[in-house]
Amino acid sequence: MKQLWKSRFVDAVADETLHYTETTEIDNRFTQHDLWGSIVHVLMLIKCRILAEADGQAILTVLLELLDEERKSGIPLEIEHEDVHLNIEARVIAKLGLEIGGRMHTARSRNDQVVTDLRLYLREQLLEAYAGTVDLIREILQRATKDSEVVMVGYTHSQAAQPITFGFWLSAYASILLRDCTRLQSAFRATNRSTLGACALAGTSFNIDRQFTSELLSFDGLVEHALDATSSRDFAIETASALAFVMATISRLAEELVWWSSLEYSLLDVGDAFSTGSSIMPQKRNPVVAELARGRATVVFGALTEMLALVKALPLGYSCDLQQDKPPLWRIFDVTLPTLSIMRSQVKALKINRERTTNALWMGFTTATELANEIVKRYNLAFRDAYAVTGGLVKELGTQGRDFRDIPAMEQYLRQAGFHIAAKDIEEIVSPENAVRRQVSIGSTNPDSVQKMIATFEQELSEHSAFVSDQRERIQNAMDKSLRLAREHAHGEPVSEGAQL
Ligand code: ARG
Repeated sequence: MKQLWKSRFVDAVADETLHYTETTEIDNRFTQHDLWGSIVHVLMLIKCRILAEADGQAILTVLLELLDEERKSGIPLEIEHEDVHLNIEARVIAKLGLEIGGRMHTARSRNDQVVTDLRLYLREQLLEAYAGTVDLIREILQRATKDSEVVMVGYTHSQAAQPITFGFWLSAYASILLRDCTRLQSAFRATNRSTLGACALAGTSFNIDRQFTSELLSFDGLVEHALDATSSRDFAIETASALAFVMATISRLAEELVWWSSLEYSLLDVGDAFSTGSSIMPQKRNPVVAELARGRATVVFGALTEMLALVKALPLGYSCDLQQDKPPLWRIFDVTLPTLSIMRSQVKALKINRERTTNALWMGFTTATELANEIVKRYNLAFRDAYAVTGGLVKELGTQGRDFRDIPAMEQYLRQAGFHIAAKDIEEIVSPENAVRRQVSIGSTNPDSVQKMIATFEQELSEHSAFVSDQRERIQNAMDKSLRLAREHAHGEPVSEGAQL
């Protein structure tokens, strides 16, 4: 038996058990974070005089070597040692012997260690996804600005409703995704708290300094309650939930791209670069990127549900169930990060079929509301009456196979109904281009109003972008500082002085 916990066991653990319980493949992703956590823990043990300088020096030297090895070639984790934590500890002990290496785990448990590692790793992944969302929004806003004047059909019930601009349609996604950014930021704040030093569940009788490790790991503060710290994964669920929102938003965009690039809509073209063909139908060009983005949202929702189910009815105090928190989280990032990136490229490459959008605007009588509004304004008519007149006009033109482009027929119908509106005025009223300009309410599709909203969104976006860069810089600086302290100490300098934070 190789296990560090073997002393209490009489018989060997079954091979089957080992394979059933080990997590080396999964833990691989945060070996560096585990090492960083151990380095900071040892620095704290030395500072608090729980560990002798010389022993600490030896342990730090090995941990720094291991970090080097991990960065260069990756540390192979052995199944016999179950997880990354015991693998690293075993490597330290193999190098220094139990007498010194066996002191690293003083005043710590894998229960506070694993949740700390997860927080360290998750906050970086969260910033990746946050940055990816910011980049997608930036692309959306650029594209919305570029095509701010292109008029297209706006839909309700998937039926032609009123004219809107392409910029208005697309910037709606920026508006939604900016709220998703706020959710990501809130998930980051929940994640960015230190659980190190909570130990197994009850704290420790050693006089440790949790504040010191929290600051060196660049956390915003502690999850103080030791039982809560080791038992809770709500920060991870909040992270999953924020990313589920992001994927739900992307999935709606993907859905519109899929349908609107069909022959029947023919409003957009996602382009060859984002399509693949059929193995049997030579004419086919399928919008598979958008389809997969829509389909992969499912993975994230499934993972979120999996994590909620994991903690439901789980008693407080670490249970091995919690080990199951990582696979769904890894899956979420594996799906979301490339989706954010490819959707960004796709938005950039989108082509609008202008002829088709114009035709649909007329065929769908999309300015009928505008005509009714104008009758209300000119004749001080109740809206319901103006609605009935316009509805009758649409019915008549529709049955004759005409639309609002037939100005003489419209003029005649309206005159007979008692409304004398000059032909050139009718033409002006029912023009889709004019209709979008006529919308004056706050948040409307009017290009001026869209430009104003885009300016506000850009401001919000730059705040999110600054948050991401600040946090990345803080993490990098904290890592640099921890390693500098560890190196200084490994060379014999006193930690307590260099470590003034
Ligand atoms: N590998 C475990 C996890 O991923 C951490 C170890 C927890 N402690 C234990 N006694 N099994 O959650």
